[in-house]
Formats: sequence, C-alpha cells, structure tokens
Amino acid sequence: MSKVRVLTGITTSGTPHLGNYVGAIRPTVRASRLDNVESFFFLADYHALIKIDEPTRIQRSTLEIAATWIACGLDPAKVTFYRQSDIPEIPELTWFLTCVTGKGLLNRAHAYKAAVDKNTATQNEPDDGVTAGLFMYPVLMAADILMFNAHQVPVGRDQIQHIEMARDMASSFNHLYGEHFTLPEAVIEESVATLPGLDGRKMSKSYDNTIPLFAPREQLKKLIMGILTDSKAPGEVKNTEGSALFQIYQAFATPAETAALAQAYADGIAWGDAKQLLFERIDREIAPMRATYDALMAHPEKVEALLQTGGQKARTIATPFTARLKHAVGLRPLQATTQAKSGKNEKTALPTFKQYREKDGLFYFKLADAKGQVLLQSAGFASPKDAGQAIAQLKSEGYTNCRDLHSQIAATDANAAEAALDTLRNAE
Ligand code: TRP
Repeated sequence: MSKVRVLTGITTSGTPHLGNYVGAIRPTVRASRLDNVESFFFLADYHALIKIDEPTRIQRSTLEIAATWIACGLDPAKVTFYRQSDIPEIPELTWFLTCVTGKGLLNRAHAYKAAVDKNTATQNEPDDGVTAGLFMYPVLMAADILMFNAHQVPVGRDQIQHIEMARDMASSFNHLYGEHFTLPEAVIEESVATLPGLDGRKMSKSYDNTIPLFAPREQLKKLIMGILTDSKAPGEVKNTEGSALFQIYQAFATPAETAALAQAYADGIAWGDAKQLLFERIDREIAPMRATYDALMAHPEKVEALLQTGGQKARTIATPFTARLKHAVGLRPLQATTQAKSGKNEKTALPTFKQYREKDGLFYFKLADAKGQVLLQSAGFASPKDAGQAIAQLKSEGYTNCRDLHSQIAATDANAAEAALDTLRNAE
C-alpha cells in the first residue's frame, strides 16, 4: 500500500496561540504519527512576505513556529519539515504554474476580491495597495502543494478555494505537458472546535484576543484570569453554555474532567476558582512542551540545523522533479537531436493517462493513444489517490493482469490498451 501524502504550510507571520494549538497543531501532529501517512510540513515564509515587511518579525516568527511544532511533538525524523525559502525549486515551479493559470482565475480569489471590494467601497482605485504578491498568492501555494504531489492538504475553510485552484492549475499543466501532477484534495477537520478567545469571540490574531501557547506560566495565569465571564457571584449557578472558559477547558480536559467542571458550575463555583482550574489544566498539558520550546528558543542554531536537514530531504524530491518538469515544458539542454526531433510535439508520441474530476465529484481517468483515441475509460473513484493507484497498477501490471480493476475500467480495445501500456512502461 502506498502512503497518503499529507502536506501543510504555516505562514510565518505570528506567534502560535492556544487556538492554533487546539485547532491545527495538536490534531496535525497526532495525524503525522500514523503509519499510513507521509507528512510534509513547512514554514511558508515566502507567503509571509506578502503580509509583512519587517525582516526581524519574519525571522522571529519562523523560529517561534518551528520551535512550537517540534515542542508539540512533530518528529523531524518521521516527517519532512522544512522552510519554503530553502527550496529554490518552489519559485521555479511557481513560474511554470503562472504560465498555465488564467488571470481571470486569480481575479476570483477571495483574498484578492476582498481587497478590491474594500477599495471600491471606499471609492479608491480597485487595485489600490494590492501587490502582485497578493494577487499571485494562490499560485505560490499551488506550487507548494504540487511540488510534492500531495494527496491531502489539511486546511481551514478559508483555504478551500486555494486548493481548488491548485487542482485547476495541475489539470491545466497535465493537459498540456502530460501527467506530472497529482490533483490534491482539501481536508477539513470538522470535529475540531474553534477555540474562543479572551473576549468570547473566536481566538484570532485579528481580534487581538489570543493567549500565546507558550506564554510563561505567570503570564498564562494572568491572561486566563482575564477571560471574559458574566457577573454572577460565588454561589450562584453558572451557565456552561456560552461560557468561553468552559469551552476552553473542554478542549484540554477528559470527558470526566469536563463533567466535573459542569457540576461545579451547577454548584455555583466562583469564577476565580474556575479560572484557577482552567489554568492548572492547561498548564499541565503545556508545561512539558514549554520546557522544550524554551530550550529551542534559546538555541536557534539547533532549529536551524533541523530545518537544513529537512530542506535537504525535501530537495531529494524537488530537485529531480523540477528537472523533469523543465524537460517536459521544453527547457532543455541543446543537443544534436534538437533539430531532428522538432516539428510535431513529441509529447503526443506516447500514449497518455488523463486524470480529471466530473461534476459528480468523483475522480476519473482515461488512457488515450498518441492520436488521442481513448483506449481505457475508468469509472469514478472516490479520491484522486484511488485513481492514481489504479493508474500505477495498470502501468506496472498491464490491463489483462489487473483483473480486480476490470469492473471499474472499460477497454474500448483491450489489445491496443495493452500495447499502449507496454509502450509507456518501456518509455519510463
Ligand atoms: N495559505 C496558508 C494559510 O494561510 C498557508 C500555506 C501556504 C499553505 N502554502 C500552503 C497551506 C500549502 C497548505 C498548503 O493558512
């Protein structure tokens, strides 16, 4: 069984807070420990440049985020953990994708449209203050994902459109130059609740209501004591519903502990005591990780070394893959055969697999010969990964031998299909 490739990036533009921990870091680190996944995590520092023009802030955030993920249990030996800007192939791929991306597609990106709408509402020029970096954001993100042929990309809801765009770009490139890219899927973790912040609204940097994940113990306590509650006096029954304090507690506690706090609410616990309980519960989980974090923050060179190693590991994939893509688009060394071979596109000289998605949401593929004649047509697969596996099996075993696939694949001409698969295998 081949592994599922999971990839995600974190923009290096802030300090991780409890909401990031509960909503992203903790579940993602847990998932990365599973045996059937191959995880790629990176610090999206090129993306940070779009928002931040303070060099020291970017550097500081990069260190904080890297140290946080490692302190929270990400194992750099098991996953590929790297910094985006250590992979020069990413901006190279960004350009290849730029050249197959309709400008109109980018016009529809939510972040860009929001900026334009804001300008229009305030009677400014539509593109006022909009950098080409913001406009190109989805292309850079697609390069991040497609470089490693990720199957799944765990993201927040606000990022779904970006994954769809990455899929569009992958399809366009594949259509023009052959099957190089896997079509990625967004994975939205529905079960993870968003954590309320100090004022009860969603914990978010933009509301300035966050609790930094690794605030020193005393500061953590002070912040927790500042969580907004109602004015019920000690002894009065407290409501768990709508209580930010209760929700945050629940995100850290076992069901039994949560039930006990609910009982304490019903018994009229004083807010100060409830906050003390919350502080102790969070600190119990965080304290050991905080010690690791503080140690890493004191030794940035250790984090740097881990990132260097991760970058090298990532480039064992990125470098040869980029060479293959350069060749595919025609950026090639000049040689004696250049003239002889020119003329008709050689990419059409081989049979090709085409992967696509239909309106029914399923993933299909077909095998066509050099002239475009369809030889095999698949039924719909639930995921691009399933479709990709079927293709891989056909390529390695041939059509006749893949009996288990026959119910999902129709052959217009089984012999021609077999011959085409042979040709492909020999060409590779
Ligand atoms: N845009 C993502 C965010 O702001 C960060 C990111 C950059 C990313 N490249 C990515 C996430 C690739 C997933 C995959 O959250």
